[in-house]
Amino acid sequence: MALCGCVVAYAFSTFRCCKNFQNRIVYSSSFSHCWNKTHLTRLHSLLLFKSATWHWCRVTRHCSLPCTNVSNNGKFKCCTSTEEELKLQQAPAVCKEEVGSDRDKEDLAKVRIKTILEQGERMVDKNVTIRGWVRSIRDQKKFAFLVVNDGSCLSGLQVFVESTLQSYEKVKSLLTGSSVSVSGKLVHSIGRGQQYELQADDVHIYGTCDASYPLQKKRHSFEYLRRIAHLRPRTNTFGAVMRVRSMLAFATHCFFQENGFVYIHSPIITASDCEGAGEMFRVLTEPAKSLNNSGKEGTREFFGVPTFLTVSGQLSAEAYSCALRDVYTFGPAFRAEYSNTTRHLSEFWMVEPEMAFADLQADMTNAESYVKFVIRYVLEKCKEDMDFFDRFIENGLTSRLHNYVEKPFIRISYTEAIEILKKSGKSFQFPVNWGEDLATEHERYLAEEYFDHPVFVFNYPAGIKAFYMRNNDHDSGKTVAAMDLLVPRIGELIGGSEREERLEVLEQKLHELGLEAENYWWYLDLRRFGSVPHAGYGLGFERLVQFVTGMENIRDVIPFPRFPGSAEF
Ligand code: 4AD
Ligand code: MG
Repeated sequence: MALCGCVVAYAFSTFRCCKNFQNRIVYSSSFSHCWNKTHLTRLHSLLLFKSATWHWCRVTRHCSLPCTNVSNNGKFKCCTSTEEELKLQQAPAVCKEEVGSDRDKEDLAKVRIKTILEQGERMVDKNVTIRGWVRSIRDQKKFAFLVVNDGSCLSGLQVFVESTLQSYEKVKSLLTGSSVSVSGKLVHSIGRGQQYELQADDVHIYGTCDASYPLQKKRHSFEYLRRIAHLRPRTNTFGAVMRVRSMLAFATHCFFQENGFVYIHSPIITASDCEGAGEMFRVLTEPAKSLNNSGKEGTREFFGVPTFLTVSGQLSAEAYSCALRDVYTFGPAFRAEYSNTTRHLSEFWMVEPEMAFADLQADMTNAESYVKFVIRYVLEKCKEDMDFFDRFIENGLTSRLHNYVEKPFIRISYTEAIEILKKSGKSFQFPVNWGEDLATEHERYLAEEYFDHPVFVFNYPAGIKAFYMRNNDHDSGKTVAAMDLLVPRIGELIGGSEREERLEVLEQKLHELGLEAENYWWYLDLRRFGSVPHAGYGLGFERLVQFVTGMENIRDVIPFPRFPGSAEF
């Protein structure tokens, strides 16, 4: 415990350290002295991966590190450094004393293929063991080549197996999909297409795979792969999507943690409808089992009140923001809407920051910094996967993303957006009228065709937005201080607002919308006791993954998609 305490104290002492992205100098905004990579690496490993110090030391050696800070002009900066990391990897291990001299032996006995392909030089002529699944096999009579992939990266490692190997007959008859462990010497490959190959001394077969394996080596449509959602992570595309998704999640935590936000785990079961749209899934016991008022088992609500799966963690985030200032939630949200589109899921993940003492401009600034940070992060850390998406999913993707992060996002009012749409000369399916919500076709026209860049649309008509959004004073509440971030190919990526912090105005809004004030009593309390201006937003995490990877359908960027009529896996 004492050790843990020290480690936590150490973590917090290094919390504000930062490295500048452009000149790669390590600096601290709140400390007078500089901190080095080691401090930062330790912090991240500690906060986000493991708490046990022994594990921590092991993780730090390969943990890549992002970091942000607020520059003089008040904007967040993306501060990551590959050069620094390379230096670190080549240098003796940060925690060599703790890990001990077993390091190489340990690593090479269970090394990931990604590590071999990235740092193979230090392993050449050494014995390594890889484990994974056979992607292909070429039998050349006296020898055979296997390509083994372990999901740690897109590429597989070529394995050279000589016919003198004891298990050769079994190995050469392996089919795609079989799982193996291969030990042998890593050498430079003389063949084209790969830098290293493994000369097998021993091949252990974990599980064979017959010709009925649904993922034979050929291109499969995404529709087909959705029907075998349990196997699709073994394909190049889904492996790459999940690695990028994971990195986006990691970068999300890094961004908010580095900027002083506190991660709040908002509840999944809730009694309040945050969006007031009535698109909630009901929580019931099966068979009906609950407690009645006398505390005995009865047939009434399990929680005493009707409960639902949350549509958003915002209301909880607001309560915590009104105590801890800047907070964020990152968890699943559920919506029972029959939207069978390429952008809607019934269960999706949402990132929801909430900032006390912030207005709409600060809200947009934070959203822009966050989106840019995570894009930069994956462009740098997931290069191989991103090049794959560029080549096979959406040509020109990476240069477009680079372009988005280099220029400021556009900001226009809803009224200006309506004018642009009216003047567009396009015949939209849905009418363009002030007071009506923007449809996806309008959002995409603005972001994709008109600006060809992410665009914030703000100050929407009050009538089309949720009850909690703050009425604008300048037009007596005709509009609310809301914003949506629209991005090319996707449309709405983020929805957010300043919150109505004035008790009477909020009560009036609930009344006008026919919502029962008593259901929101605790939310109203936040306005009764020490109310402060605050603002926040929600980013649809799957839409972010789509935006970054170029994937067309939202069902292909989440492991097991839930949508109307489908929850098989
Ligand atoms: O605009 P929305 O409905 O905003 C909220 O839920 C706010 N309470 C957030 C906040 O201010 N804290 O949803 C936010 C984002 C949308 O912009 C969209 O990207 C995503 O969540 N989203 C969905 N993603 C996938 N499937 C669905 N059915 C989605 N509904 C919303
Ligand atoms: Mg919205």
